[in-house]
Amino acid sequence: MIMTASNKIYWIMLEKIKEAVDFIQSKLPGKPEFAVVLGSGLGKLQDEISDAIVIGYEQIPNFPKVTVKGHSGKLIFGKIEGKNVLMMAGRFHYYEGYDMKEVTFPMRVFKGLGIEKVILSNASGGVNPSYRIGDAVVIRDHINMMPEHPLRGHNDDELGPRFVNMSHPYDPDMIDFVIEFGKQNGIEVKTGVYMGLQGPTFETPAEYGMVRILGADCVGMSTVPEVIVANHQSMRVFCISVITDLGGPEIQIPVSHEEVLSAADKAMPKIVTLVKGLIASGV
Ligand code: HPA
Repeated sequence: MIMTASNKIYWIMLEKIKEAVDFIQSKLPGKPEFAVVLGSGLGKLQDEISDAIVIGYEQIPNFPKVTVKGHSGKLIFGKIEGKNVLMMAGRFHYYEGYDMKEVTFPMRVFKGLGIEKVILSNASGGVNPSYRIGDAVVIRDHINMMPEHPLRGHNDDELGPRFVNMSHPYDPDMIDFVIEFGKQNGIEVKTGVYMGLQGPTFETPAEYGMVRILGADCVGMSTVPEVIVANHQSMRVFCISVITDLGGPEIQIPVSHEEVLSAADKAMPKIVTLVKGLIASGV
């Protein structure tokens, strides 16, 4: 390969991924089957892990550091429903100042560890008029409105193809399973399209209106870059969102980070049941 400035950066990237993977592997007694990413206010899912081994992000070579309240910055390896999971408590957001290669670095490392299934969670603002605060919404598609694309630049074929098929960004079998599992357990599960915006401002009433007109049901500041990179690497993705506030052109109720955290916390038991059901199912 001819060394250009952009593919040199990529060689460094592969090297960085390998260093992080080697370090994490040296700390783990087994191979994780699932990666679970915790969204704002959804940290309590950590309590479901048994035999936990905790690795602070600051110990992992090349991992970015965390700055947001409600995100603590550690990987937790252990068992949920007898399955090995690696949980990411604290994710990296574009609005914090990371570039998209940093935001999605953990997805690269997860694939390097041999993980094929990713479960993401987030808090989002609902713009679908049928949504209520506290709803559990399984994300079935997304609209990427972030200003930088995580796959921009040199593509390394070792990681995935240049042009990525996004016809099923969220795994249909996992979606179907969770909807059915919700029915059997008396948990109402909605489905929807998530729009990823850069934040850190919450949307204005007119912007919530735009999100709806463009075809989304909810909006947030995370998830989309991670889902793109997971798809680049042919990983299976599941995402569940908690509706923590409602927005629209006629809604002028102020939203705060504290309210987002509190609404997510209240929805936690539902999310725990659904995620545990999915992990246990083997789907
Ligand atoms: N907008 C963007 N991000 C969010 C929201 C919202 O309304 N709620 C929780 N995260």
